[in-house]
Amino acid sequence: MAIPRETVEQILQASRIEEVVGEFVTLKKRGSNMWGNCPFHNEKTPSFSVNPARNIFKCFGCGKAGDSAKFLMEHEHFTYPEALRYLAKKYNIKIEEKEQTAEEIMQQSIREKMFNINEFADKYFVDTLWNTDEGKTIGLQYFRERGYLNPIIEKFHLGYSPAKWDAFTEYAKKNGYSDELLEQIGFSIKGQKGLYDRYHGRVMFPIHSLTGRVIGFGGRILVNDKKSPKYQNSPESEIYDKKQTLYGIYFAKNAIAKQDECILVEGYFDVLRMHQIGIENVVASSGTSLTMEQIRLVKRYTKNITMLYDGDAAGVHAALRGTDMILSEGMNVRVVVLPPEHDPDTFAKEFSVEYVTNYLKDNAKDFVRFKTELLLKDAQNDPIKRGQVIRDIVETISVIPDSIFRITYVKECSRLLDMPEQTLTNELNKMLRAKLKKTLGIEENVVTETDTTTTPKQDETVEDQLPAGYYQERELVKLLLMYGREMIVDERKDEEDQLVYEQVSVAQFIIDDLKNDGCLFLDPVNRKVFDLIDRAIDEGNIPDDQFFVSNEDEAIAQLAADLLSSPYKLDQWARHNIFVLSEEDNLRNTVMSSLLRYKDLIIEDRRKAIEEELKTTEELDNQLILLKRKKDLDDIRMRINKELGIVIAK
Ligand code: CTP
Ligand code: MN
Repeated sequence: MAIPRETVEQILQASRIEEVVGEFVTLKKRGSNMWGNCPFHNEKTPSFSVNPARNIFKCFGCGKAGDSAKFLMEHEHFTYPEALRYLAKKYNIKIEEKEQTAEEIMQQSIREKMFNINEFADKYFVDTLWNTDEGKTIGLQYFRERGYLNPIIEKFHLGYSPAKWDAFTEYAKKNGYSDELLEQIGFSIKGQKGLYDRYHGRVMFPIHSLTGRVIGFGGRILVNDKKSPKYQNSPESEIYDKKQTLYGIYFAKNAIAKQDECILVEGYFDVLRMHQIGIENVVASSGTSLTMEQIRLVKRYTKNITMLYDGDAAGVHAALRGTDMILSEGMNVRVVVLPPEHDPDTFAKEFSVEYVTNYLKDNAKDFVRFKTELLLKDAQNDPIKRGQVIRDIVETISVIPDSIFRITYVKECSRLLDMPEQTLTNELNKMLRAKLKKTLGIEENVVTETDTTTTPKQDETVEDQLPAGYYQERELVKLLLMYGREMIVDERKDEEDQLVYEQVSVAQFIIDDLKNDGCLFLDPVNRKVFDLIDRAIDEGNIPDDQFFVSNEDEAIAQLAADLLSSPYKLDQWARHNIFVLSEEDNLRNTVMSSLLRYKDLIIEDRRKAIEEELKTTEELDNQLILLKRKKDLDDIRMRINKELGIVIAK
């Protein structure tokens, strides 16, 4: 149910970050901030800070940052609405729920009915396992033979569904559940003699949602029957969406967050076995291939995924397919391949927890190493195949959103393949360019107007070769967020060349200046902030920092919390030549110099690109065009440097 927008704002305004955090973390005041041990990673000296003035928290150790709602989402694993309800309760704010439509009420009641029958079935299967002769001698015996102990069987609510063809269907009907619901949620299937059980004669695995409600079941057959599949699973329903579900997430989420790592396996029993030996940060994709939704689910708790797949060809193949998707979400992925005869279940059964832990540690390979070793195996001396392998790996690197990580992986790849780094970088840039073209393809005819001297393909070069541009860009975003509403004096020449002065907001000053020189931000999140503020200026209403910190777009909220919590570490500022002298004292100067330095970098980069192009351009006419463009850029740079000189001298 949706919470009205005004109420959301009211709740966030009422929330005091130090009070919200204070319920979970002991905080001590030091300077204007409060400090404590970070609840999100293990540490002995406090690097977790709370800034009451800005109403945000930030950990300088692990980087988590945000507002009160974000803290609760991270710490209590609440969804956003859950966090808001918690805060509303804490600060006595009444939430006027929007009225539900008739259809919503219908939907709601179907879902409730489904949860209800699942809970009923869960109890029935568990009860049958422990308290009936058939359950005990067949179901429980099966778990025992495979070496599963009571605590695990109880914790995961494992059960047993009797062999009689309609045992559960009949029991459920006696208890008032309709044929329609039984069929809809999948416990029963219509046959010639009426409804019969989907799961008869199977051990049962309830599948839990993130919050621990039963949303579906899997049942494993106990006899070798070629006609019947090994597992029967619930069909999808209003409450069970397979692509959004990971088996075991409810039992694993805390361990995943705490250890900052999620181990991904394939099957139900793999999850059970790992838990039984004490490794609890484990979930299963349940045999289907991994989906983006499942990856994002994990991302709520950690950015690190370790894939632990069977040693056979199918397992390796599944791992290969998953890595690109995980990387493209900006997460880290490592792969552990087990000995060919094992799956995680048999492996962890045979060896001690120490052995398994060490094996994971010693054999986890990042995807570059994993892919390289795997693919090179059968390409070793064949130059054509080798070329294909290289392209294949570079292709994977190109899906990583963060340029700094891309560079790291190129370096590793160069080492492993014994290839010059530059060759790989060229290949990578070629792919990035092709991708960029494809994305821009749709907009090609829209950009023609600015496509004269200032907007050539600078994107990938700036990003890859000049991370400094990235920091300069963030510096500007930071100024926009912190001082966007402040007024500064803008001096400019009017038509008669007279100096005129006028008051403008910092936001307007920065945005107009960048637009004038055609230097829009390159990083997509920075660009979003840019566009938001640009639109807000038109509406005459520049948002404050809290608007960004609490933004519904998670990437924006994270960026804002990061930027507002601190300057970059000093050495980083010095390294990238960023001007930090006196933000508050001399706002106009800081804004000006940041703008000029940013534009300087961008222009320099465009100039470099032209020089490169000149090297390969043979036609004289084209050379002349390029030379003219270069000259124009040189003029702009001169102007910028002159202005910069004046600003710094002031
Ligand atoms: N699976 C399925 N339907 C099948 C086979 C497999 O849904 N017919 C799913 C199950 O979630 C299973 C996972 O794929 O747990 C992995 O399959 P498999 O390795 O065959 O099963 P295990 O979990 O290893 O089961 P067991 O050890 O009992 O063979
Ligand atoms: Mn198995």
